[in-house]
Amino acid sequence: MARLELLRVSKIIATSRVVLQDIDCTVNDGELISMVGPSGCGKSTLLRCVAGLEKISYGEIRIGNQRVNDLPPQQRNVAMVFQNHALYPHMTVYQNLAFGLRVRRVARTVADARVRRTAARLGLDALLERYPRELSGGQRQRTALGRAMLREPGVFLLDEPLSSLDIPLRAEMRRELSALHTSLGTTMVYVTHDQSEALSLGQRVVVLAEGQIQQIDTPDGIYKDPKNRFVAGFVGWPPMNFLNGVWLADSGLDTQFVDYGIRPERLTLQPGSSSDVFIAGTLERIESFGGEWQVEISRQGSRVIARVPPDSALRQGTELRLWFHREDLYTFDRASGRRLKDSR
Ligand SMILES: Nc1ncnc2c1ncn2[C@@H]1O[C@H](COP(=O)(O)OP(=O)(O)O)[C@@H](O)[C@H]1O
Ligand SMILES: [Mg+2]
Repeated sequence: MARLELLRVSKIIATSRVVLQDIDCTVNDGELISMVGPSGCGKSTLLRCVAGLEKISYGEIRIGNQRVNDLPPQQRNVAMVFQNHALYPHMTVYQNLAFGLRVRRVARTVADARVRRTAARLGLDALLERYPRELSGGQRQRTALGRAMLREPGVFLLDEPLSSLDIPLRAEMRRELSALHTSLGTTMVYVTHDQSEALSLGQRVVVLAEGQIQQIDTPDGIYKDPKNRFVAGFVGWPPMNFLNGVWLADSGLDTQFVDYGIRPERLTLQPGSSSDVFIAGTLERIESFGGEWQVEISRQGSRVIARVPPDSALRQGTELRLWFHREDLYTFDRASGRRLKDSR
């Protein structure tokens, strides 16, 4: 187990393209942190830099209080599991798991005991003689994880390890990973482009965009207290609704162009209290999710989505009011995207 520190880590490629800019982040010993951001924002590059597969342009990476910038991957005390968890196709599960130990010349009986213990822990004991092509996606995933675990790293780096699995299996593997983290207590960095996965798995969440950290916070903090419009719009499903506005400062003299934001789940069909306010528009679309409906209204070219209980009185094409508490409204500076807290 080890602490991972990233200090102003930056990576510039092709003379001037900045892929990572001033990444400052500490992953505590034993912590599971998730890193999330849209495709192409630099997540894999960052993990590869930590693993030592790529060089950083400046900054410092420290693992367990040791500067590792110049250490080769095998001396960094990390294990990485990739998206396309490449197993050796001509080796059985057992051989895949044992491979790293053989390379390190661990005694055969010791290696055998460790492989079997890890396999049992991951529910692979009945599959040891199978080849990767004979495994399901989840079983392959577990084999790749087992291989990484057998390295007993100080830090686990997981790069979208579940993205090739179908949705029910992903949910199951996510729970398994979480349980595994609890029992191993190893420092883990879990990278994903899926915001719901990041929030459900991470003890803290790092939101990245265009090579820069937008926010580091608990899942609850990221959801309830986004620092800017990007984070607000990226986290939550359906995404936060945004409306143009002009904000008048208390003096009534200064004005500022802003975007107002309201989450779909904070909108209701009836006012919840006398101080509630509403947005009105034409009901354009009703989408049923069984126990919940999503309704969409249009208002002067903007669209607003609400998650509401099913209501058979709703009619497409009619005027609909969506109510909310004033304190659920977020305000962002339009130019910078920065959250304006005082306006709430
Ligand atoms: N070695 C490289 N050469 C050229 N472009 C790269 C290299 N590494 C990363 N990039 C670019 O950097 C950006 C970040 O990529 P990546 O880290 O794979 O993002 P993510 O994993 O978040 O989807 C992308 O635009 C990618 O094309
Ligand atoms: Mg990637």
